[in-house]
Amino acid sequence: MACIDEKIRSRSVEVGVVGLGYVGLPLAVAFSEAGFRVLGLDVQQKRVDLVNQGKSYIADVSEARLSSVLANNLLEATTDQSRLREVDAICVCVPTPLTKTKDPELSYVISESEVVSRYLQKGQLVVLESTTYPGTTREVMLPILERSGLKTGQDFYLAFSPEMIDPGNKKYTIKNTPKIVGGINHESTKLAQLLYQQVADIVIPVSCPEVAELTKVFQNVFRSVNIALVNELAHLCEKMGLSVWEVIDAASTKPFGYMPFYPGPGIGGHCIPLDPYYLANKAREFDFHTRFIELAAEINEHMPYHVVFRILELLNTRGKSLNGAKILVLGVAYKKDIEDTRESPSLKIIQLLREKAAEVSYNDPYVPHIHVPAGRMESVELSGECLASMDCVVIATDHSCYDMGEVVARAKLVFDTRGVTRGLKGNNIVRLGE
Ligand SMILES: NC(=O)c1ccc[n+]([C@@H]2O[C@H](COP(=O)([O-])OP(=O)(O)OC[C@H]3O[C@@H](n4cnc5c(N)ncnc54)[C@H](O)[C@@H]3O)[C@@H](O)[C@H]2O)c1
Repeated sequence: MACIDEKIRSRSVEVGVVGLGYVGLPLAVAFSEAGFRVLGLDVQQKRVDLVNQGKSYIADVSEARLSSVLANNLLEATTDQSRLREVDAICVCVPTPLTKTKDPELSYVISESEVVSRYLQKGQLVVLESTTYPGTTREVMLPILERSGLKTGQDFYLAFSPEMIDPGNKKYTIKNTPKIVGGINHESTKLAQLLYQQVADIVIPVSCPEVAELTKVFQNVFRSVNIALVNELAHLCEKMGLSVWEVIDAASTKPFGYMPFYPGPGIGGHCIPLDPYYLANKAREFDFHTRFIELAAEINEHMPYHVVFRILELLNTRGKSLNGAKILVLGVAYKKDIEDTRESPSLKIIQLLREKAAEVSYNDPYVPHIHVPAGRMESVELSGECLASMDCVVIATDHSCYDMGEVVARAKLVFDTRGVTRGLKGNNIVRLGE
């Protein structure tokens, strides 16, 4: 076994974390807090400066934690990727978005692999953490890394270990969420397992990187499909005059064989809306069509259109048209209590409402401004007067800090896409799925 093995055990291993975003920064801090020296690398000078100044831009990493690891000299950020030569293990956490036509956009993984290849040292362990289709580590990353002249599994070690973090989740963190690792050979798996055991309570080795890659995408497909199923049920309940929320509550009483998923205005974030397409795309190489994935994406992506249609109908029954209606969207983050607006359905809803000439404003205590196709928008103050002046208030994100009683008391009409007004009384409330 390589000497990195002893270095991990003696806690003298140095870890490089590439990409200091939602995944990379918490990981870098977790390794530092476990007593390892960490070099954080990013292409954005601003992020690097903020990290070195102890200023966090990721809600899950408090400034107190960041300052503490900096004070102990356990974390340093840099844009200088030649310093990858100095570390023993390299965890790559760069973005894996989609192109406009929803094909995998692997340019970040490819360009970072080229950089790592340039500075690769004998004995180093490289781990890809970015979510991607099965085969990326072996078919895309490995050949680029071997351009260094070093041989995988012999001169250096290579594994895939998907990041499982759930931003904003206070209960499950890097430490208590099981971490999957799959190496290109037995030694790579063993080394990756040993490395992650330093920050995660449970590390689960699998037979190869492809299994680890598919596991992560499958977890996200599972969520996407189940959310689509319950979104479809919400549509049906609207037609049948039943409440999907009541049905879910009743179904959830079954102690086995069921777990609740909830309908909403659509899916957002960097994972659930994107990752299933990575698999659907790869599957085509095998003349295979992942029908569940496509169907779920179709249903989930239609939800913002459905929300806008419901608002249009509600205004219509009140003798108003959407054209010129004053509409306040509450919450633009893709889920509660976080500041992330990537792929947020609220942005789509705002865009669609504006295209129909509605006068749209938004409030989100976590997001001071947003960019939509029509330009920049600022979050408005959520005052009683503001609520009362609207033709419709749309609850799009159920941030815990919102006083829904106050919203319902002040607004003329509330369209609740999250089911958070259940238990409140008022004939001005209309809910998705009812
Ligand atoms: N956000 C999540 O909840 C989450 C959860 C699990 C997995 N993931 C996956 O993890 C990966 C990273 O996602 P994220 O949310 O942290 O993205 P992010 O956009 O928040 O962060 C990525 C960072 O990488 C940097 N970067 C880009 N190219 C680089 C390069 N060549 N060298 C150094 N830095 C570079 C960017 O500047 C950015 O700071 C994605 O594959 C994503 O699907 C995300």
